[in-house]
Amino acid sequence: MPLGSDEVGLHYDHLDYLPYDPDDRDAYLAMGAFYETLSLAAHRHGCRSAISPRFARSGSDLHVGDITIRPARPDEDVDPLAGPAADRHTNRLKYDRTPVPPALAGALNGLGNAMVAPAAIARLVARASVLSWRDRRFVGDLERWTRAETSAPDGMTPEGLALTRTEWGLLRAAFRAGRLPALVARAYASRDVRLLRGSVAVCVLGAPSLDPADLFAAGRRLLRSWATIAGAGWACHPISVAVDRPETAPEVAALAGVAVPVAVYRIGHPTKPVPRSNRRPLEATLR
Ligand SMILES: Cc1cc2nc3c(=O)[nH]c(=O)nc-3n(C[C@H](O)[C@H](O)[C@H](O)COP(=O)(O)O)c2cc1C
Repeated sequence: MPLGSDEVGLHYDHLDYLPYDPDDRDAYLAMGAFYETLSLAAHRHGCRSAISPRFARSGSDLHVGDITIRPARPDEDVDPLAGPAADRHTNRLKYDRTPVPPALAGALNGLGNAMVAPAAIARLVARASVLSWRDRRFVGDLERWTRAETSAPDGMTPEGLALTRTEWGLLRAAFRAGRLPALVARAYASRDVRLLRGSVAVCVLGAPSLDPADLFAAGRRLLRSWATIAGAGWACHPISVAVDRPETAPEVAALAGVAVPVAVYRIGHPTKPVPRSNRRPLEATLR
């Protein structure tokens, strides 16, 4: 919501989200990632931003904070992640087996990521994924999040999800069924599990707690992690299911040695470029 020429209120609309996010974890993370994206964009445009956090809920509206933007002073450095942030995107294809460069591993560690053994996290994702495919809330969210038409203004298309025609057909069959029997759920879960097992590295981002301010800050670190990866010419693919499920989240925390695991994503050296996902136009988010 524009407040003045250089001040904008950042709001999260609970009527325009995926309902299976019971503690609003992804909401606060996404808002943090959004703000960090804005802040880095300001750097690219010769400006700087600041946010006064509010985290005030009223009905379906969450007032996240108020953002101010001002011209940069000549003595202020440009954030080195400003360029890579413009370029970052999720790549859900297979990556090659190039080992993670130590500088990249160090930078991700500094942002609060722990690298975990791909086989160990793949086991947890397998469990969480089967539970999710048997859960109507998860399947419902996935259905709300996907779009059949490549030109849709938002949501994920088969191309963006890197699904073959058969996989897309199977996904639609799952939507029709609402939830899947155990055996079929296992088959559906196998794709992400295979991708994780074949990864050279998987990151778990931690937060000190589930407090809104901690999650918002973690969202900012998540975006900085993804921009760091893009800046190194690497790719990443979030696979959140094991931290979304209360049955597996504590084991992810123990495996990664973090207080609260908020994101799991595989990283790797990409083999092929992918199309960028659809973006809502700016006007659709301004009131
Ligand atoms: C907190 C958070 C959790 C996410 N979890 C998943 C996930 O479990 N699986 C997935 O495919 N993408 C996941 N994503 C990726 C988003 O869906 C992705 O960013 C979106 O498709 C926009 O595409 P882009 O990353 O290419 O900009 C997650 C993103 C965020 C911010």
